[in-house]
Parts: sequence; structure tokens; C-alpha cells
Amino acid sequence: MTDTSTASAGSVPLAPRAWPLLGHALPLLRYPLAFIMSLSGYREMVRVRLGPSSAVMICDPDLTRQVFLNDRTFDKGGPIYDRIREVIGDGLSTCAYPLHRRQRRLCQPSFHPTRLAGYGAVFARAATNKAGSWRDGDVLDVTQEMMTLTTRATMETMFSGALPAETMQRCLADTAVIVSAFFRRMMTPALLRRLPTRQKRRYDDARTRLAATIAEIIAERRADPTDHADLLSTLVAAVDEESEDGRRQLNDAELADEALTFFLGGMETTAITLAWALHLLATNPDVQHRLKAETDRVLTGGKLDPAHLPSLGLASRVVTETLRLYPPAWMMTRVVREDAELGGVRFKGGSTIVLSPYLLHRRADLYDEPDRFDPDRWLDAQPDRRATYIPFGAGARKCIGDQFALTEAILALTAIVDRWELTPVGDQPFQPKVETSLSSRGLRLRLTERRSSGAGDAERSAAAALSASVQPPTQPGAAACPVKHGK
Ligand code: HEM
Repeated sequence: MTDTSTASAGSVPLAPRAWPLLGHALPLLRYPLAFIMSLSGYREMVRVRLGPSSAVMICDPDLTRQVFLNDRTFDKGGPIYDRIREVIGDGLSTCAYPLHRRQRRLCQPSFHPTRLAGYGAVFARAATNKAGSWRDGDVLDVTQEMMTLTTRATMETMFSGALPAETMQRCLADTAVIVSAFFRRMMTPALLRRLPTRQKRRYDDARTRLAATIAEIIAERRADPTDHADLLSTLVAAVDEESEDGRRQLNDAELADEALTFFLGGMETTAITLAWALHLLATNPDVQHRLKAETDRVLTGGKLDPAHLPSLGLASRVVTETLRLYPPAWMMTRVVREDAELGGVRFKGGSTIVLSPYLLHRRADLYDEPDRFDPDRWLDAQPDRRATYIPFGAGARKCIGDQFALTEAILALTAIVDRWELTPVGDQPFQPKVETSLSSRGLRLRLTERRSSGAGDAERSAAAALSASVQPPTQPGAAACPVKHGK
């Protein structure tokens, strides 16, 4: 029976300036953030068109929460995930509802708190080495540097750092090509996507090569099943006790999809978050000064250690606030599996829904002075992680690597700010490059060493050698409480 009190999705207002054929693809490609923010006047939802198909963008936190919590109806899908699925098949982040719970049970042990403690030690060491590899007066390509750092940390936590430098380099270069193609491919109509252009060939080659590299790594690990205390060992050993025979494990193809998922999902997002955090600190010297005071108080001249984490309150708030202002996954899509009602609107099965953390995080009715960087807005307020603060998504599909990423980011910020003062280069405001993620590509900052004699040349050369064994790809990531918070 049809509920006559609900309206059809077609009655949701269409965003202005849709072009014939292309719809809103042009503003979404050219100035996506301004376009998204122009929609914040729509309180609940608004329709946008991508080529011939249209999608409904949810602008309201409570409706966003309802979408996240009902993942059976509002399932992973839509243009972003269709493109990502081309690369990682039915891995944890792309698989549809019927597969998801089982995949999640098999992947969860890799992110168990007991494993995270070991990963934290890797993060602290990698960040300290990275910070030790720079020189006074250096102007950093911040995103490249943070990509190198998170790549090294991801590789070490995933594969115990046992990969030859050449293999790491190949994975990185292929990852950069793939990630950079996602957004454009998502906006391109299917017919044009199939044209055999040079870009498409590069993309297809990178996909095939990366899959082959990961398959090689897995074959080697199968041949030597000792526990390396890394992510891959945990994945290989994972058993789904809730499966029919209680012994279901990941097969080789599934393992490859999951390894690729963690690889693609973890590296770039955390690197971008760190780059934005450093940018915000450089442009807010008072906060940077207070953060240095925190590192002095907590580290007291000793080595950075994951045990310091509970005392790094300001570093943690800086990361929280950075993810509010620059959520790497600035929009996410869902597909409606069967006819459903949301906010008084009837959606037909197959409709696409868009959620945008960027839009919600910058709504003036949810946050005081939403564009201002103010880590202290989180002193008394806890983020509402299901509706108004969603950099990691929410519900059953929430990011499985959130604690992994936060641990890595807080430790890295601490290691860097402890040793270096960061200042902007030039006086032009730096703008995000909008791709599948909110990229900080091209960001440059100047370094001034805080302690002249902190590291001898020997220590610096050792750190530089360690960091240099992995070079970032040339185009990193060109690549996912309705109460006011704040003071
Ligand atoms: C600051 C860093 C990160 C951010 C901002 C981030 C963001 C997100 C978001 C928004 C989602 C949900 C997407 C959706 O619902 O459509 C997600 C899911 C996911 N993320 Fe992350 N992520 C980060 C780091 C990581 C890391 C380090 C890993 C792994 C090593 C990871 C692996 C995943 C996986 C596997 C999923 C899918 C979970 C599921 O569907 O059950 N992410 N991430």
C-alpha cells in the first residue's frame, strides 16, 4: 500500500544551474566545495544530477544518521563505490550488505586494541625518523612527505616492512595513478569511460600491476605462515566462528581485496589529514605554540612512545578539528536497495543518495564560526560521531581504521611539532584540491629547527636514509549531536 503522506524523490528540489546532459557534473568538477556549500540552504535534501542520472543529497544530520544506521536499505553503492569496486572488488569497504558482516568479522581482529599497541610503536618510530630527516630552513612538499611517512607506517604494519624498496615504490606509483583517476571516472558517463584513451590505459595497467604485486605478497606469506604480528598475518589467520562450519577463512582473492582495501583506504586519508593539520598549525601559531608546550611537558626530552597518547590532549583535539574542517572523505554515496521512505520522501530501489561530511561539518547552525580552526571547541564537547561529526562515517560501515589513523596522526604531529616550527610559504591562502578525497596536494611549509643541537649529523643521516628508502609517488593522492559544539 502506498503511503499518501510521503512525496516521491522526484519532488525533492533540484539544485540550480543543471546543464543539459551533464547536469551538475561541471560545478562538481570545477568548484565542488563551493557547489556543495551552496546547497547548505536546503535544510533536508536536494537533488543533483550527474549526467543522465540524479542523486539526492542529504543535508540534515538526523537524516544522515538514519541512512548510516540502516545499511541494509541504504547500502554501499553509487558512483564512488562503483569506481572503487573496479579496483578492490568486494573488499570490506565496497561489499554489499549481504557480505558485509562476515567480512567485517574477519577483518576486525587486525584492528584489535592489542594489535594497535604494536602498530603505535611503529608509528612513533616512523614519525620520529621522518622528523629527523629534515634540515633547518627546508621548504617541505608537505603532502609528499606525509605520504612517505604513512606509506612506510602502513607497509610496516601490514607487511612487517619486509618488502623490497622497489616493490614498495611500484605499489605507491600504481596507487597514485588509481586514486587520481577515481574522481574523474566517477563524473564521466559510462560510455566515455570505456573509450581507450591514454589515461584509461594507464589506469588499467596500474590496476592490473597493483593486483599482481599484492597477489605475489600474499603467495609468499601463505608459504611462510609464521605470525609476523602484522596486519597481513592477522588477516591470513582470521577465522569466522559464526560461519556455517565455524572455520571460514579468507581465500586468496578475498585476502588480496582486503589488503588492497587497507592499502588504498589507509595511506592517503591519514597523510592528507596530517598535511592539513600541519597547515592549520602553521597558520595558527598560537595553537602551534601551545602544542609545542604540550610536547615539552609530555615527552620531557625522552623518546616518543604510544604510552604518551593519553596525555596528548591538545594534539588529539587538533586532529579532531582538522578532520572537521577537512574531512578527506568529503562525500560518500549509498544506493537504496528496495523502495524506502526517508524524511517523508519515497525512494525507489536503485536510487542514489549522497552524504557529505564537509557540508555538515561547516553548517553554521551546528557549529559556531564553522570555518574557524578552534581545537578548543572540543574541550567540553564530545563530537556526535553518528550525525554532526562524521569524518569516519558511522554505523556498521564506520571506518575500521579510525583508531589506527588517529593513533598515527596524533603521534606524528607530536613528533613533528616537538622538533620543528612550521610557517606558511607565501601569503596566498591555500585551497584544497578536490578529488575523491579533499587533497592537500601542492601544500608547502617552511621548517625552522627548534633545537639547534638536538640531532647530530649522524642521527640525521640515519633518519634520512630510513625515510628515503620509500619515495612518495609524484602525484600523491591526486588520488571517503544536533547540538552546537564550540565555545
Ligand atoms: C584519517 C584517516 C581516515 C579517514 C578520514 C577515513 C574515512 C573513512 C570513511 C568516511 C569511511 C566510511 C565510508 C562510507 O561509509 O561510505 C571509511 C571506511 C573504511 N576505512 Fe577508513 N578512513 C581513514 C583511515 C583508514 C585506515 C588507516 C584504514 C585501514 C588501515 C581504513 C580502512 C577503512 C575500511 C576497510 C573501511 C570500510 C569499513 C566497512 O565498510 O566496514 N581507513 N573510512
